[in-house]
Amino acid sequence: MKTLHIGLDIKIYENIDELSNRDAQLMNEAKAALQKSHSPYSKFQVGASVILENGKVLSGANQENAAYPMCLCAEMVVLSTVSSEYPSMIINTMAITVKSSSQVIDLPVPPCGACRQTIFEFEQRQQKPIRILLQGEKGAIYEIASAKDILPLSFDSSFL
Ligand code: THU
Repeated sequence: MKTLHIGLDIKIYENIDELSNRDAQLMNEAKAALQKSHSPYSKFQVGASVILENGKVLSGANQENAAYPMCLCAEMVVLSTVSSEYPSMIINTMAITVKSSSQVIDLPVPPCGACRQTIFEFEQRQQKPIRILLQGEKGAIYEIASAKDILPLSFDSSFL
């Protein structure tokens, strides 16, 4: 018997002032995108911004429906915009932030499993890692080097 250990390194910044200007700007775009959230059911806003290789920044926010399973996560919204508007452009970094009406979230909130799979598949397509920055409403920021890091034992097209 052997044990397989899969590790994860996360860079932690105490606040937005510790980020590079470019990363701080991207996180602020994600925060601005919270305004575009349509979340009357969960009252949980999520904003996601990406910076592409050509410097273009795009943002999205979660969009809910009365039929709950049809909700769209912010990450899916912004990734759909990238693949529709800039189909072969490489994504360098994605910033994700949240705001809840019931509590101040001061911890970074990670993307859900479906979003991790989707970001990971974009990474596979572009054959370059997508760096992920996470922040709650305030507090520390996590930097994750690649979506693959938060999706260990990932399923991809090589199995098909
Ligand atoms: N949500 C996202 O936008 N991204 C995630 O990664 C997790 C959850 C949204 C979906 C729903 O509108 C609300 O947050 C509560 O689950």
